[in-house]
Amino acid sequence: MRLNRLSLTNFRAFSRLEMDLPGRILVLVGDNAQGKTSLMEAVYYLATFASFQAGTDRQMINFSAVDEPLAVARIVAEFERGGQSHRLEVRIIQEPVLPSGSRTRKEILLDGVKKNAAEAVGQFSAVIFLPQMTRIIEGSPDDRRKFMNMALCQAVPGYARALSDYSRVVTRRNALLKLLAEQHGQADQLVYWDEQLTNLGSEMVLARASAVRQLEEHASRLHQRLTGGMERLSIRYKPALDLTNFSAEGLTLDAVKSAFGQSIQRVRQEEIARGVTVSGPHRDDLQFLCNDLDLGDFGSRGQVRTAMLSLKLAEVNWMKAQTGEWPVLLLDETLAELDLHRRADLQQTLEECDQGILTTTDLHQFTETFMAGCSIWRVTTGCVQVEAAPTADA
Ligand SMILES: Nc1ncnc2c1ncn2[C@@H]1O[C@H](COP(=O)(O)OP(=O)(O)OP(=O)(O)O)[C@@H](O)[C@H]1O
Ligand SMILES: [Mg+2]
Repeated sequence: MRLNRLSLTNFRAFSRLEMDLPGRILVLVGDNAQGKTSLMEAVYYLATFASFQAGTDRQMINFSAVDEPLAVARIVAEFERGGQSHRLEVRIIQEPVLPSGSRTRKEILLDGVKKNAAEAVGQFSAVIFLPQMTRIIEGSPDDRRKFMNMALCQAVPGYARALSDYSRVVTRRNALLKLLAEQHGQADQLVYWDEQLTNLGSEMVLARASAVRQLEEHASRLHQRLTGGMERLSIRYKPALDLTNFSAEGLTLDAVKSAFGQSIQRVRQEEIARGVTVSGPHRDDLQFLCNDLDLGDFGSRGQVRTAMLSLKLAEVNWMKAQTGEWPVLLLDETLAELDLHRRADLQQTLEECDQGILTTTDLHQFTETFMAGCSIWRVTTGCVQVEAAPTADA
C-alpha cells in the first residue's frame, strides 16, 4: 500500500495543501502546533473514515471556513494497492438545516463513484501509533472496542457493514425497549429486532474472536523478542455473551447465535426495565496479560508501553496477512518514548513496510543511518516543505 499524493482543503489548520509523497519513510519535522498530527489524522481518516482524536467531524473543518453556512473540508488521496492506482476523496460537509441549525455529513468517492463508509473502508489501510494509545490497555472497554473496530473494519470483509448495521439496530431497539417500559407494551414487538441484533452481533463476535486469536499469536511472538524472552503476553477476548462452553474450534456462527438468543431471553425483563440492550458485542472487552498478570491493573509504565508496541506491530503483521498488503504505518511522536532496543524493532518493521510516515519535533532522536534512508519534510503553520531527500536506500 502506498500513498502517492495527498491534497487537503480546509482540513484543520491546512486551508490548502498538495503533497506528492515520497515512498518508503517520510519524517515530518516541526515545532509544536504546526500541523504534524493533523496530517496523520487526515491520512488515518482515509483508512477508517473516523478521526482518532476528534469527537465530531465538524472539529476537522478549518476554523475560518466553519462559520460559513456551507463549509467543506476535503481530503483527496491517490494511492496504490496491489499494483492498481486509486483515488479516494472524502468531503466533510457542514450544511444549514432549517430553521436555524446545521448538520455535518460526509461524502466518500472511490475512483469517482460515491460509496458509503462501510463499502469504502479497507481500500486504503493504515496502522497508527500514538503516545496516548496505552489507553487501549489502561483505559476503558470503549477504548479497546474502538481499537478492535478500527483494525477489523479495515481487514475483515463485511465487518464494517455488520458493525454499522448493528449499531443502528441497538439504537432502534433501545428506543423500542423504552417505549415498552413506558407503555407496558407487548414484548413480542421485539422479535424482529432480536433477530437482527443476533444475526449481526454474532457475525461481529465471531470475527473478533478469530482476529484476537491471530493478533495474540503475532503479539506474543513479538513480545518475547522485545523482552528477551522475559515476558509472556496474552490477549484475551472477553465477549459480553457467555461463550465459555465453546472451544476455539467449536465457536461457529450458529453456536454464537444460539448463545446470543439464550442471553436475550435471560435479560428480557432487565432490558425492558432499563430501556437498553444489555447483552451483545457493544459490551465486549479485551484483557491484556503479562506473565498471567492483568496489565491494565498491574502493569508498570514500561511494561504497558512495550505491550502496546507488541500489539501495534502485531496489528501491522496481521493486516498484511489478512489483506496481502502492508498498511501505511503512521508514527506520531512515538519513537521518542521508546528505548534504543525497542526503537530498533519499530524501525525494522518500518523498513519492511511499503511506506511509513513519522512525526517529530526533534530530528536528533534518530540515528544518522536511519535518517539517511528517510525523506525529511518540514511542517510550518499549515505548510509542508521538503528539507532533505534520502541519501541511502532504506
Ligand atoms: N479545525 C481547525 N481549524 C484550524 N486550526 C485548527 C483546527 N483544529 C486544530 N487546529 C490547530 O492546528 C494546529 C496544529 O495542531 P497539530 O496537533 O496538528 O500540531 P502538531 O504539529 O502535531 O503539534 P505538537 O508537536 O504539539 O503535537 C493547532 O494549533 C490547533 O489549534
Ligand atoms: Mg502532534
